[in-house]
Amino acid sequence: MKVLVFDVHAFEEKLLREALKDFEARLVSVKLDESTVGLAKGYEAVVVFIHDHGSSVVLERLKAGGTQLIITRSAGFNHIDLEAAKRLGLQVANVPKYSPYAVAEHAVALILALNRKLIRAHHRMMDLNFSLNGLIGFDLHGKTVGVLGVGKIGKVFAQIMRGFGCRVLAYDLQQEEAWAKKHGVSYASLEEIYQSSHIISLHLPLNEATKYLIDESALSKMKKGVMLINTGRGALIKTQAAIAAIKSGKLGFLGLDVYEEEETLFFEDHSEDILQDDIIARLLTFPNVLITSHQAFLTQEALENIVSTTLENLIAFQSKKACPHAL
Ligand code: NAI
Repeated sequence: MKVLVFDVHAFEEKLLREALKDFEARLVSVKLDESTVGLAKGYEAVVVFIHDHGSSVVLERLKAGGTQLIITRSAGFNHIDLEAAKRLGLQVANVPKYSPYAVAEHAVALILALNRKLIRAHHRMMDLNFSLNGLIGFDLHGKTVGVLGVGKIGKVFAQIMRGFGCRVLAYDLQQEEAWAKKHGVSYASLEEIYQSSHIISLHLPLNEATKYLIDESALSKMKKGVMLINTGRGALIKTQAAIAAIKSGKLGFLGLDVYEEEETLFFEDHSEDILQDDIIARLLTFPNVLITSHQAFLTQEALENIVSTTLENLIAFQSKKACPHAL
């Protein structure tokens, strides 16, 4: 079976080549979009990643070129128009669970690094500046942490924060009382979470209901000096509103692994370029903002799980069985 893998990066290439050795596989570094979709002509299966474009136009052209299956090497699937895929009879599959620990632990890393000013402290050390001025943090113990989106990742995150001795408030459309009781977590409304949380961490998928959930209005309801962490998807936060809230002091810390305009920046080396994105440029000037380049998933275990689940989907499809992780 012919398989075309888009947007392949050095960190995953070896694992992908090994896993796909029994397929007629081609790995390319370009992203799938209207200008590159022609490469997929004649490939029955196309494997994509989070910055590929699965718009209806692209899907129509994939279908016309003979593609029947699209697999995304991610849990999130907001980059694929599922309605259009259904209409066209294209199967779509994802990797629903590869390591909730990877992402949850990265969210905690952002919290600790921001709170204890680790990046600043490290830079000082490198300059033989051993002063402690400006490095005061706060005890996590006893603080209230709001978790928005308490699915696979949000649950692991909530459990870790309980381990620090935090009070954890959870917001989700679906409430799992038995889990909450077992881990000492309380479900609460958005309003309650905004009002009482010292830290708020986003673990929601991006969809019409969650886009810009954190806007001027939401930020205005939060505690002054709140720490906001986003490892979900960039557009859960209206970035301009967050910038205004940092400038006013409402937002005390901002930790981002995702950014709404990340697609043209993240995963690539732009160190020789003139940065064109004035919004991220502004964010990078704040001492209380920490940004990583969508790396929360990037652990060895997660990469291995992504590849093995992708392979499961491909093998099932090749044997004319339903993909185990069809969307
Ligand atoms: P999940 O599907 O297990 O959990 C999502 C939770 O959000 C569910 O419990 C669902 O009920 C809830 N939810 C959905 N819409 C909602 C709404 N409108 N209001 C309240 N609750 C709502 O997903 P999982 O695996 O926990 O991943 C969450 C998100 O994390 C993914 O959708 C993805 O965007 C992001 N992610 C980020 C990664 C990174 O490297 N930064 C890696 C993997 C996932």
